[in-house]
Amino acid sequence: MLWTNRQDEVLEVLDVRPGDRVLEVGFGPGGLLRLLVSRTEAAHIVGVDPSPTMRAAATRPNHAAVRSGRMTLVLGTAERTGLADQSVDRVASVNNVDLWSDLEAGMRELHRVVRPGGKVVVAWHGGSSPGRIERRLRMPEAKLARIEGCMRRVFTDTARDRLSTLDVFTAVR
Ligand SMILES: C[S@@+](CC[C@H](N)C(=O)[O-])C[C@H]1O[C@@H](n2cnc3c(N)ncnc32)[C@H](O)[C@@H]1O
Repeated sequence: MLWTNRQDEVLEVLDVRPGDRVLEVGFGPGGLLRLLVSRTEAAHIVGVDPSPTMRAAATRPNHAAVRSGRMTLVLGTAERTGLADQSVDRVASVNNVDLWSDLEAGMRELHRVVRPGGKVVVAWHGGSSPGRIERRLRMPEAKLARIEGCMRRVFTDTARDRLSTLDVFTAVR
């Protein structure tokens, strides 16, 4: 999982500013978390994932950030993050939206926790240059349209784009 994503492209779309509080839902082994630590000046990074195994895996490469308090990794889901209202500036979800048990509830939750003007990026396998894995896992258009429609109902400003190996939905609250 760590190496099949173009996490650097997600980071660019996320556009983290110095001092931002960033949430990643479904962080898996922690590849994007690692980039958030090393390539941004985010003040605080919180990761939410339902898997204790993934939390342990993601803690290892991000040990220093967790120890210093710059990063917090908790068990939770996109539908129930446990974060306070409007408590983050940026939200990223890479390759987990299809695993959410309730798409509408997940979108509402991400809307709840991001501050007005904050940005949400939801990405899934696909993109303009998909490899074998992305071709196998990419969603049919009807499913992509459902995600887009759901995001549009919750957020004011939304867009859909293609990165190299990811289809990406962005929204501003
Ligand atoms: C395919 S991995 C992707 C991990 C990482 N984002 C990446 O791109 O490498 C999917 C992750 O989503 C998590 N997940 C499953 N259900 C979820 C949910 N409802 N909300 C958030 N994450 C979830 C899994 O535990 C797993 O860590």
